[in-house]
Amino acid sequence: MNNPPLRVSKGAQLWNKAKKIIPGGNQLLSKRSERFVPDIWPAYYSRAKGCEIWGVEGEHYFDFAGMGVGSCILGYANDEVDAAVMDAIRNGSMSTLNSPEEIELAERLLALNPWSGMVRFSRAGGEACAIAVRIARAAAGRNKVAFCGYHGWHDWYISSNLSDGANLDDQLLPGLSSRGIARGLKGSALPFRYNQLNELEKIIAENPGEIGVIIMEPARDHMPEPGFLEGIRKLADKIGAVLIFDEVTSGFVLNLGGVHATLGVLPDIAVYGKALGNGYPITAVVGTASVMDHAQETFISSTFWTERIGFTAALKAIEVMEKTKAQEKMIVQGRKIAEIWRKAAAANGLKIHTEGLDPHVHLVIENDPNLEIHTLLTQEMLRLGYLYSPSMRCNLAYTDDILAGFAEATDKSFSVVGAAVKAGNVRSLLQSSMPASTGFKRLT
Ligand SMILES: Cc1ncc(COP(=O)(O)O)c(C=O)c1O
Repeated sequence: MNNPPLRVSKGAQLWNKAKKIIPGGNQLLSKRSERFVPDIWPAYYSRAKGCEIWGVEGEHYFDFAGMGVGSCILGYANDEVDAAVMDAIRNGSMSTLNSPEEIELAERLLALNPWSGMVRFSRAGGEACAIAVRIARAAAGRNKVAFCGYHGWHDWYISSNLSDGANLDDQLLPGLSSRGIARGLKGSALPFRYNQLNELEKIIAENPGEIGVIIMEPARDHMPEPGFLEGIRKLADKIGAVLIFDEVTSGFVLNLGGVHATLGVLPDIAVYGKALGNGYPITAVVGTASVMDHAQETFISSTFWTERIGFTAALKAIEVMEKTKAQEKMIVQGRKIAEIWRKAAAANGLKIHTEGLDPHVHLVIENDPNLEIHTLLTQEMLRLGYLYSPSMRCNLAYTDDILAGFAEATDKSFSVVGAAVKAGNVRSLLQSSMPASTGFKRLT
């Protein structure tokens, strides 16, 4: 089989250097090379535009690996957003006085969420969830949090693993260590699984009068079973808990706002991040005035939450999403990509299925417990100049031509992978020292 060695780029070599001087290699688990093709993934970029990325040596890739972890649905370096940001920079992105753009953005988000009355801003998704939980705890006057899904790295969330080190394994990321988290938080954050209303009922029954906050992703890999979200809302109302929908990933994917708007169930607080600023750091906690007003009773404050770029980028990004009908296009695109995968798999004898919201369609390769097939597929796509991951993030930069190129590369890569599966030699075709791994663990 024609499978010549892939050149190890300078970017891949830089990653080895990074691991020696930055513990964990970088600041975000999802960008570790070990999740893609260990030793070979190019790891660093010099330039990004649309859905194209140039590596540190100027080598060219199409990005089908998540578009900046889902943050850039208008494409990288969007001209209109960047022009607004440049303007903000020229006029001073920071000063002693406040940026009026934050009021404008608050008003925009309140209009997009007609059930809400007040907004706070921050810069990261996990940080915004921590703010939301703090406000909700203050409003409810109770300590314990029931949660479902992934909500970041902060102590309130990771503390869940103090009682059972596997508590978070069924949420999104397995193996999250709780080392360094104050032991006193043990038992304060209790997990339930998606579509398992009975698990939340059990938590409530076992902690009478103690659950003040319920925080969950309204949808991630699946839409809810009928009655699930409605049931959560009812339980929250019954026990007087504040219901937070974490829309950090699902926000602005199906519509201008959150997936909860599509599903017709309203939270007390919705948290937005990722796509809100098309790659510029800005996150928002949007809630009913009666709940959000409790932010005045608990200290939540930070210097860079006031800088101008984030507000400006978000205002322009929302405007561009609206005028281009970005979400409608991404839904169509996601369905096309699912079809590309299904066709290539059928033609090459691979067992796969797809899941996820259409613009976040996800490829699941069946019978691949050690991710060897996944790694070979990523390696072969890389050979053809595609950064690939199974978690698609649709965006306005995928043109029909680019999708046609992706379909061709997918078919070629699936044919290598399909033949390897048939011959039973997937592992020996990997040019990395090990297959990819997705959980949290030490790297060095
Ligand atoms: C639903 C959800 N909440 C919170 C976060 C944390 O966001 P950030 O990585 O910006 O801190 C993420 C990140 O993937 C997420 O998907």
